[in-house]
Amino acid sequence: MLKTKGRPARSKRTTMRYRATEPLISPKVLENIRRVLEERYLSPGRWVRTFEERWAAVCGVTYAVATSSGTAALHLAMRAAGIGPGDEVIVPAVTCPDTLNAVTFVGGTPVIVDIEPLRFGLDPARVQEAISKRTKAVVPVHLYGCPVSPQVFELCSARGLLVIEDAAEAHGAQLDGRMVGSLGTMCCFSFRGDKVLGVGTGGMITTNNPQLAQRARYMLGMASPGGFDRYQSTEMGFSYELSNVHAAIGVAQIDVLEETLRAKRQIARWYDELLPEDALDKPAMIPGHVWWRYAVLLKTANPREVHAQLIDVGIETMPPFTPMYRIPMYRGGHRPSDFPITEDLYRRSLALPISPYLERPQVEEIVNALQQAVKTSRGDALELRKQ
Ligand SMILES: Cc1ncc(COP(=O)(O)O)c(C=O)c1O
Repeated sequence: MLKTKGRPARSKRTTMRYRATEPLISPKVLENIRRVLEERYLSPGRWVRTFEERWAAVCGVTYAVATSSGTAALHLAMRAAGIGPGDEVIVPAVTCPDTLNAVTFVGGTPVIVDIEPLRFGLDPARVQEAISKRTKAVVPVHLYGCPVSPQVFELCSARGLLVIEDAAEAHGAQLDGRMVGSLGTMCCFSFRGDKVLGVGTGGMITTNNPQLAQRARYMLGMASPGGFDRYQSTEMGFSYELSNVHAAIGVAQIDVLEETLRAKRQIARWYDELLPEDALDKPAMIPGHVWWRYAVLLKTANPREVHAQLIDVGIETMPPFTPMYRIPMYRGGHRPSDFPITEDLYRRSLALPISPYLERPQVEEIVNALQQAVKTSRGDALELRKQ
């Protein structure tokens, strides 16, 4: 029985009592899936159109194009924007590799810059320094659901640069009252199963630009005019469409987005109240944050040890993304010392469970377990991952 309050039923394979992140499941999901099956039309169809229309309305934009994943959305957005060989695209050092892979897929060059310590998104000063004659676009990643500094958007607009937001982790987030998804030239979302709005898999491009929306939609399938001429491809299409089944789940999930955000914001406030300041630095309570993850920076304890101890008692925590300049594909000639804020996050951070199903006694239990783990951790956080 699915329910939107209290703990949901768990499969036998789930060993964690508290997961780092999970979506709230709408009670309408099963009904929508049943309807798709009864309609016997599982390929992209009317549910996809409805999902697109409803997501465009959530983001306050005119166009939305659904894709099979967030990575597909980023790849398609890069192609639609005409990014190619010789073009530089500024990206943050902390993100999922998919952000940079999308730039590389189209032949562009990702230019990695450091983040700032308040929001853990692109640092506007570093972006300014990184802009060159070859810069074509900037990709602000709203890490963990926190909207990127408004100065990044102001700078890009002043310099006439394309902005492709990566909001894979930031459904429903707002920056100064404006919706994430409407802040740049285009925006890409992921509906992977662990996201704020989880579907299982899926993605979406949002934009107010009709040419870019049209171009993305054309490339989305077989790059053909459709109808009777559906097999008359004029160039190589991507076959990145979302299925009707996933879209039907997405349509149901939009109904519980507000409830998800309310629950996650409440849990973030409980953590803010209960977590011990002598042991860790808490994340800033930025307005408009949607708390995909709630990451703390441990002061002296070793995150790897704390993570292992919490796993033993059924509490799942998450390490940070490995900085992009530390992974083989993007290491290049980068020196970690050029990215001090990213390095600090990499060495000290751990994301605590922030499932929308958590209630206050469970948050208290997690905080107590964390305090215990921090006390017994003999590690030195700064010694961690010296390489
Ligand atoms: C910041 C970021 N960008 C892109 C992606 C890729 O999305 P997907 O897994 O749907 O391809 C993810 C995560 O999944 C992400 O966290």
